[in-house]
This record gives sequence, C-alpha cells and structure tokens, in this order.
Amino acid sequence: MRTHYCGSVDAVEIDKQVKLTGWVHRRRDHGGVIFIDLRDHSGLVQVVFDPDRPEIFSVAERVRNEYVLQVTGKVRHRPEGTVNPDLSTGEIEVLVEELEVLNRADTPPFQLDDEDVSEDVRLRYRYIDLRRPVMQQSLRLRARVNTALRGFLEKEGFLEIETPMLTKATPEGARDYIVPSRTHPGQFFALPQSPQLFKQLLMMGGMDRYYQIVRCFRDEDLRADRQPEFTQLDIETSFMDEAGITGLMEQMLVNLFEQVLGEAIEIPFLRMPYTEAMERFGSDKPDLRIPLELVSLTDVMQAVEFKVFAGPAKDPKGRVAALRLPAGADLSRKEIDDYTQYVGRFGAKGLAYIKCTDIAAGRDGLQSPILKFLPDEVVDAILQRTGAENGDMIFFGADKASVVNDALGALRVKLGIDRKLVEPGWRFLWVTEFPMFEWDEKDKRWQALHHPFTAPRSDDAGALSKDPGAAISKAYDVVLNGTELGGGSVRIHNREIQQAVFNILNINEQEAEEKFGFLLEALRYGAPPHGGIAFGLDRLAMLMSGAQSIRDVMAFPKTQTAACLLTDAPAPVDEKQLRELSIRLRKPQVKND
Ligand code: AMO
Ligand code: AMP
Repeated sequence: MRTHYCGSVDAVEIDKQVKLTGWVHRRRDHGGVIFIDLRDHSGLVQVVFDPDRPEIFSVAERVRNEYVLQVTGKVRHRPEGTVNPDLSTGEIEVLVEELEVLNRADTPPFQLDDEDVSEDVRLRYRYIDLRRPVMQQSLRLRARVNTALRGFLEKEGFLEIETPMLTKATPEGARDYIVPSRTHPGQFFALPQSPQLFKQLLMMGGMDRYYQIVRCFRDEDLRADRQPEFTQLDIETSFMDEAGITGLMEQMLVNLFEQVLGEAIEIPFLRMPYTEAMERFGSDKPDLRIPLELVSLTDVMQAVEFKVFAGPAKDPKGRVAALRLPAGADLSRKEIDDYTQYVGRFGAKGLAYIKCTDIAAGRDGLQSPILKFLPDEVVDAILQRTGAENGDMIFFGADKASVVNDALGALRVKLGIDRKLVEPGWRFLWVTEFPMFEWDEKDKRWQALHHPFTAPRSDDAGALSKDPGAAISKAYDVVLNGTELGGGSVRIHNREIQQAVFNILNINEQEAEEKFGFLLEALRYGAPPHGGIAFGLDRLAMLMSGAQSIRDVMAFPKTQTAACLLTDAPAPVDEKQLRELSIRLRKPQVKND
C-alpha cells in the first residue's frame, strides 16, 4: 500500500513518484492550494493538493484531522522560504496525483500536539494518544530494551521459560489478585506477584539459567512507579554466588545502555551496605546524583537539655541527624515552613534549622530557633561534622530512626530538585547486606525484608533463630538515580534453614506445609545452590526514555485507583457467571466510577 514511510521521504526522491499512507495531522487551506501534514509512526510529510485536479481537490477539501489517507504523487522541492529545518522531510513536499480516503474519523477528543490533555482523557482514548510521537518513541524504545536484554541473555545461555499465571500466592509483600475456580467451588487461584517459586523450582529441575519477561500482579497502593500489573525481567541461575550474579547483571546493563542509548556506563557499580545507605541518605535507594548527605548527631545530643533532641538520642531506636544545604541560608521563612510541612508527611514533628551567616563570629553568626538550647561543644560538633560554611543552612531531624530517615531522606531529594543540585548521568549502585528481618511493631512479629526464600549469609540455623535481628541476607538491590530498579538474592537451598526462616516469620509447620509444602518437599530432592534477580522493566524503560511515570512506557496502563479507563475494567459480572463460580456477593453489585 505504500512505497515509503511519511518521515523517510527526502530530497533523494525528488521527481520520483511515491505512494504514502497515514493520518491527517493538520490540513491548511492556502488560497486555492491545500496542504496536509500526513503522519505515520516515522514522522510527518507535507502533501499538496492543486486545484488543477478538481476531483482530487474536492475530496481533499472534505478531509478532516485523523482521516486515514493513501496518496500517490511526485516529490518536489519546497518553494524558496518554505523549507522547514525542524522536519526530516522539511526540504520536500509531495504533489498529489491520486488520493484515496481509507477511513474517516470523527473529530478527535484532543489534538495530538496539545500538551495539556488530562491523563484520564489520554487513557480513555489511548489508541489516539499512542499516535503521539512521544508515545511512539517510548514504546519503540521499550521494545528495543526487550530485544537487547533477550539478545544478551540468550548469548549467556539463559533459557526463556514461561511460568503459570493461575497459581498459588507468592509472598512479595502485597495483596494478591485472586481468581475463582469454577471446577473447584470455593477455591481460588492467585495471580503471581512474581514467578519466584517457579523459577527456583526450575533451578531444581536442572534448567541452569532461566529468564522471562513476565507480567506480575500486586494489589498495592499505586504511585508513579507502581502499577497493579507490571513487567519484570525475571532471572535465576544455578551455582552462582552474589558476586557472580551481580557482576553478570552489570554486563547486561552495560550492553543494554550501549545498544539502546549508545551510552557507556561504568562498571563495577558502587556496592553499599544497607546500613550505610540509611545512615548517609536515609534511604535504601539513594539518588547519588544529589550531592547532599545526612550526618548523624545521635551521640552528641544525648546530654543536651533540649528534649526534642535528647529524647530520640537516648532512645535505642531513635536518631538525631543533620542535613546541610550548601548556600541554603537564603531560604525564606515561608520556604522553611513549606519544607517543615513537607517532612510532616513522613511523620516528622518539626524541622529545626541553623542558618550559618558568619561562622567565625560564633553564636552571633548563626540564626536558629534551637541555638539557645545547645551548648557550645554541641554547636561546634554540628558545624564540624556537617562541614558547614558561611551561607549554608543546616536542617535537623530527631525522632525514631525510621521517621528521621524517611523525612530527611525525602527532604534531601526535594532540596536537590528544588535547588537544581541534581547532577546529570546514570548513577547505579548495588545496595547489599540487608538485614534478613525487620521487627513489625504493630503486629509484634518479624517480617522478611525481601521474601522468605532469601538466604542468610550464615548457614547456622540455630544462630539465625536465636538472634533474627542480627542476621544479614545475601540480597542485593540495584538502584538507578534514586529508583529501585531490581532486587534479588541468593536463595535458601537447605531445608532446615528454610524451615527456620518460616519459624522466625511465625509461619508454623502446618501453615508452611499448606502454603509452601511443594517447595519444602523439592528441597529434599537435590536442590542446587541458586540465586537470581528481577528487574522492573517498566521502571527501566521509564528511566531510559526520560519519562516521569511508568504509565508513559506502558501501552495500556491503569489509573491510580487500579482501573482501566479504556475498557472500563473492572466491571460487574452476570449473576449466572457468579453462580457458576459458587460466589454470592456480600453487597449488591454497584459500579463505582
Ligand atoms: P521485587 O519485589 O523487588 O522482587 O520486584 C522486583 C522489581 O520489580 C519492580 N516492581 C514494580 N514495578 C512496577 N510496579 C510495581 N507494583 C512493582 N513492584 C515491583 C521493581 C522491583 O525492584 N521475586 C523477587 C525477585 C528475586 O528475588 O529474584 C521480586 O519480585 O523495580
Ligand atoms: P519547639 O520547641 O517545638 O518550638 O521546636 C523548636 C524547633 O525544633 C522548631 O524549629 C521545630 O520545627 C523543631 N522541631 C520540633 N520537633 C522536631 C523534631 N522531632 N525533629 C526536628 N526538629 C524538630
């Protein structure tokens, strides 16, 4: 139906005949001549209708935006002064000799080059939104990411194997999406939160190296980088340790960035223990492009009289920390109030500060509502540890360590963005040496920091059970520019240790048997040492394409409330269908939109 793509016609074709297909991007009537910008995925080309051919001309007059056309015509130079250097086809135009309207279009709900269309409208009419060049580029980039990853993994001996979607719950920390079984009334499948257990079973099945580009389902609170269904690049290997797996993954990422973006990234990535990341950045996914760091003051604040600081400093779970903003003393009262409100969202009860105007002048050169509560030696320690200079601002957080880390960690990123301190580039790192467990104060029990199949560094089941809080895991997360891109671990391949971990997590033997009996059993029959990782493919594509949300690199994403505006899912089902599934609703069905 065509000889060229719209965006690929250029001066080489001058005087030749071309046949093109595409959508009407814009039509302009210029005193007897009609110009149409014809668009396909490759770009725009200007096609011209001359009144000399009245039968074609009258059809062209009735053409509207987003009509689908086929045109045949001769390529010619644009007249002097009308060349458009911003367009790949800007030197030429096509004088139309034949025109066929392949399809008409109603007036579209938005113009493709309108920047201010609400996301709801874009999602409702996603098939139109997808015609926009930015969406075309993002999805094409994403496809190239898949191709490059597959190419590398195939070369390294990985086998692409599919795992079930109708399965049993795999604990990854979110709620499950469940599917009722018709043939087993009252019973349910869970959609996988990840293929975690199947990929481990594949290693036990001797598959050696597995990968899959796979959909995962998690019913959790949604954000810019979280969707209820998302895609993982899921990987598992046998007989490899932490260093082996992380090293191979670095090579994969080097190959990916080189192939898709033509950019060289440096390896090996920085490896940073979890405790160091929390201490210095208040986050286990630090954005290393921002040159600001938290500084601990817990030790020096224990003896001060200021209770706001002394309380948390004396609490074993507390923390007092400072964050220095270079040249930040110009922040206004209003701006400080806004930042105080911002950290409040993370549970901080305030945001103490010191403005450093003239450090040499001692106390007189510092402005702060809390200075009067702090003795000289503490003020000295603050200035020295933060490395304060004249013109700087120092912020403080004092609370439970988790609150201080969340609040100052988020403030660090916000200040970095607001003050334009974010450096360019790709800043990867591995966060390692995670604790195996964290204590859940609310439920009074240990929770796995990753999933319960993560191996501890020590293989002494007794020591593990005696002091779960001290156990360090063989887990690693890869972080890029402040986004958790992927996470994985070496797994437990020893039945006793797996049982000990279930016990610590308060999963008793009967429950373990019900939920993971198949895994425990498989561990009896010669499970090799194995480990792996999963990358969030949506997040990777988002970062590589410069998008702000993973929704912009997904063809048909869901909204913040986990609905699809295009198909109007989820939706009620027939009474008959429910009856077949042996389901009676607790409340009558109402469609809430
Ligand atoms: P984890 O739970 O860390 O690990 O998930 C791996 C990666 O998947 C991405 N991700 C998401 N992306 C979009 N929307 C979501 N709701 C979402 N949730 C997670 C993140 C994350 O780093 N089975 C383990 C992997 C393993 O141990 O091999 C797992 O699923 O980028
Ligand atoms: P107050 O004594 O409550 O007036 O607080 C004095 C200063 O300490 C104010 O600037 C508060 O914003 C700040 N502040 C109060 N609580 C905290 C806290 N938990 N962490 C950091 N700063 C705080």
